[in-house]
This record gives sequence, C-alpha cells and structure tokens, in this order.
Amino acid sequence: MEHAASTTELERQFVAESYTGIYSMHKYWSKKPFNLIRNFILKYSNENDVVLDPFCGSGISIIEAILTNRKAVGIDINPAAIFITSEMLAKITPKEIENEFSRIQNDCEKKMNELYHVERNGKTFVGTHYIWAEDNLKEIWYVNENGKKIIGNPNSDDTKLAKSFSYENIPYYYPKAKLFHNSRINANSNMHVYELFTPRNAYALSFLLNRIESIKNQELKNLFKFCFTATLGQASKMVFVINKRGKFNGNKYQEKKEVGSWVIGYWIPKENFEINVWNCFVLRYKRIIKAKKEQYNLDYEIKLADNLKDLKDSNLFLINNSALTTLKQFPDDSIDYVITDPPHGNRLPYLELSMMWNEWLRKTVNYDDEIVVSEARERGKNLENYNILLGKVIAEIDRVLKPDHYFTLVFNSLDDETWQNLLTMVKDLRLELQNIGTMGYSATSVVQDNRRRGLKSDFTLTFKKVKIKQNLEIKLLEGEIEKTKVKSLIENFLTMNNKAETYQILNYVITNSLKDKKFFRLTDVLSVIDSDFEGRIKQLNQEVH
Ligand SMILES: C[S@@+](CC[C@H](N)C(=O)[O-])C[C@H]1O[C@@H](n2cnc3c(N)ncnc32)[C@H](O)[C@@H]1O
Repeated sequence: MEHAASTTELERQFVAESYTGIYSMHKYWSKKPFNLIRNFILKYSNENDVVLDPFCGSGISIIEAILTNRKAVGIDINPAAIFITSEMLAKITPKEIENEFSRIQNDCEKKMNELYHVERNGKTFVGTHYIWAEDNLKEIWYVNENGKKIIGNPNSDDTKLAKSFSYENIPYYYPKAKLFHNSRINANSNMHVYELFTPRNAYALSFLLNRIESIKNQELKNLFKFCFTATLGQASKMVFVINKRGKFNGNKYQEKKEVGSWVIGYWIPKENFEINVWNCFVLRYKRIIKAKKEQYNLDYEIKLADNLKDLKDSNLFLINNSALTTLKQFPDDSIDYVITDPPHGNRLPYLELSMMWNEWLRKTVNYDDEIVVSEARERGKNLENYNILLGKVIAEIDRVLKPDHYFTLVFNSLDDETWQNLLTMVKDLRLELQNIGTMGYSATSVVQDNRRRGLKSDFTLTFKKVKIKQNLEIKLLEGEIEKTKVKSLIENFLTMNNKAETYQILNYVITNSLKDKKFFRLTDVLSVIDSDFEGRIKQLNQEVH
C-alpha cells in the first residue's frame, strides 16, 4: 500500500491563510480557507467553467471561482448567507461609498452620540463603553477633551440616562421575533431578538438602520446594510468582559477590563459590555472601505444571471432557496465542478444563529427545509431527517454534474454513523472517490474545536462522476484483525512525525485507509490510540517541548 505524506507534511504544504481584506468584512460560521478552496478550483476546473456550491455560506468558493475566471453558482437557504456573498463581491466605486458614509455621518453621528452623553465637571463627553453586571451599571469609559480614554465609575445621571430607554418606545423598526429554544447555542425561547441589545443600543441601531434604508441607490443601501449586520455582534450584550490582572493605584487595587468579542450563539454573559453603536459602526465601516478599495483594483467584473442558461453571458448566479428544490430545476450534466461544505450534523444551526441578522434585515426564512440537526425541539430536525435530505442533495449533485467531472466535498465529523451515512449516500451513485485530503482551519476561524479529540481540520473527499462505476465500494473494517491494520498505520505515522495530536493521527488513518477503499470506525481508531499508544504519544510530545 502506498502511503501519503504525513499529516504534518500536508499541513506545511496546505496552510490555511487567515481572513484579511475582503475575507474579513463579515463574520460567518465555518468559513473555509480561501487559498485552499482556490487550489481545488484551479485543480479541478478550467476558465469559464461553471462551478457550483449548493451550500455556499459566506461564499468563499463563489468568490474564488469568480476571481479565477469561472462562472459561479451559489445556493444557500440562509438569506444572510446569500446577502453576505453578494456584498462581499460587490464592486462599488470607493468614492461613492465614502460620500454616502459622510452623509450618514452628518445625519447620525451627533444624534447617536447624544444617547451616550457623559457629564463631568460641567463638561460633556461621549461614552464609548459601559460595563453592566446584570442590571447594574458598573463602569463607564469615555474620551476626555485631550483625547485620553477615561475609565470611571458611573454616577446617578449615567445610570438614569442608560435606563431611560425602553424597547416599547423605539419609533423605528426593530426585530421582535422570538429565538428558538436551543440550549446548545444559549438561546431561550422566552427571549426576543431585540433583547440581545440594551434598550439604548436597540434604539441606536434602529435609528441607524432607518437612515440606511432611506438610501436611494440600491447598491449603496445594500452595502451599508451589510456594514450594519457586520456591526450587530459587537453592538450586542453578548460582548464579554476580559478581566486582566490589575495594578495598585495608591493603595487601591484596580482591575483592568478589556473588551472581549461576541462568540458563537446567544450567550449573554453576567458581566457584559454595552458599546456605543456609532463607534461600532465606524470601526466596521473602516474595515469594509479598506477592503473595498483593495477589491476595486482586482481584475474581475460581476454580471448577474437570473437562471442557469443566462450564465452564457454572465458569471454569477446566486439563489436563496433550499439546495434540493433549486438543483431539481437544473438539467442533467450541466455543471463543470462542484465544491461544497455542507452543514455538519448538529455542529452549527445556521438559520438559528443567523436569526439576529435575518430579523434585522426583515428577511423571510425557510426554516423547514434547512438541513441540520437541531436541539430546538419545535423544529423537529433530527439526524434521520438530516441524512435523508443531505443524501437527496448529493444524488442531485451527481445528476447535474457532467460526466468525467469532479465534486469536492468538505466534510467534518467524529461520528461513526455520520461517516457511514455519507459512504452509503454515494454507494449507488456514479461518484467514485478519487482523492482524499485534509484542510486546516484558518487561524481566525470562528469555529475552532479545541477539545482534546476535536478535529482541527476538515476532510476533503474528491469524487469523479464516472460513466460506469466499477465495484469500488468502500468497505467498513471491523474486528481484531483490522485493529492490527489500524495499529500499523498509527506506527507509521509516529515514525514519520515528531509530534502527534489525536486529530492528526485520525486524519492520517482515515485518509490512508479510504485511499484503499477501506474505512475504520473512528471510535475503533480512538480506542486503539488509547489502549496501545497513549504512553508513546505523551513521550513523543514531551520530547518536542
Ligand atoms: C458549512 S456551511 C458553509 C460555509 C461556507 N463553506 C463558507 O465558507 O462560508 C453550510 C451552509 O449550508 C446552508 N444550508 C443548510 N441547509 C440548507 C439547504 N437545505 N439548502 C441550502 N443551503 C443549506 C447553511 O445555511 C450554511 O450556510
């Protein structure tokens, strides 16, 4: 059997680059490393080919397809995902964006800053950050006349002002929907989207959005809405306080508090920040305008298509709908390359997580057709439903892909059943496994699995649609004899590497056995690691440090 390069070697070759520039404009969960996605597109498709991603998320594959002169088809059930993809690609003259920003600034900055005014010794300042512990205002930051950041105790006027706002009195649109109850993402069904924000920040946001919605030019309006949704997380109560070691000032000990950032889900920490919404918006705007200026000089042009046929004379077709419904309308053998990263079981309920964005954007959301396993009981989304729907989409991919063309599936699971289901899904199709690899996460990815056994990379499985499938079914190997094979693969890995984390060993064993059309249960591999190699791995890792 021919062995692939060791995992660490692979990692060196295929290091995920961080999201800077255009890739850093807006958050999305499980964004894929653009440079690695680009490598796949270059390898498996040609210029002017039609590249499809039926679960395109924030559109990394779509952007890379466009930047490498392909025609891109992106589908996602999440309105926010299609909106983000479209705005990431939008090319707008930077001067027009800057002019519009100045107009928004004229209309909003002063009024919004008044919501945070702070009076000290007869002078008025603007509050930038407020620290709340449940319902009590604990600390207030503002900038003084010399531009110095002052951290102080709130006085009764500060508290009175902060508490003078109420959701009921907000005169503009703000989202009133209730979250689905899902403890995994800290979402409580008694909670409304607006309650993720203090009443003052909800007011400021609704005022700002109202102003943005009045922009006549559709392109600019969308871009500033994009800037608005990108601002929401840091303007919410979900921003935690980092308590750093403080210092003695005289003989009084002063704690040092820093701004954390919003993490996955709807966790509102007991101690949280309320950040001046105008400042949050300006920070995001600066990042976006910088990226848009860089992007303006890139050599591409967007021509939107209304359907697949239109792609002859255009290069981008984006659809906000379920992958299954959409693909059913595509003719057989019509797509040159498919690359996709489907939802991974119960890891991330995208529509529930995106509710904060979709509700502010007033989007209608099709929760019923999402492919997901959700803890929110009222949604009835279980593993069986997930497998059936994902299987149907993969069968559609098989149908729409041209013969002798490729399909790359980015896949991540530690669960035996999920792997087996995937292998069952492709069994009766014309898709034949050609290549397996691993793909690291970008350092700045929102999704990092840091459990000891957490997968710190994805698998990439590339299939070819063949005319006639040979009998190349992937065999599940079980039992004592097969354990010896697992052991020898692990031995091999340990000989080739001078450090070994569990996920690297797993990657190596799975990648190499799949190459031979064999598959071991992940739980079997893990138990062999524990029973036979734990001591050796510890020793190996200690030698490195
Ligand atoms: C793993 S994410 C893709 C992330 C993407 N690779 C990126 O770089 O941003 C999976 C996506 O599948 C979408 N999705 C879930 N069910 C879907 C369905 N039935 N049809 C289309 N998209 C769906 C989710 O909204 C989510 O954006």
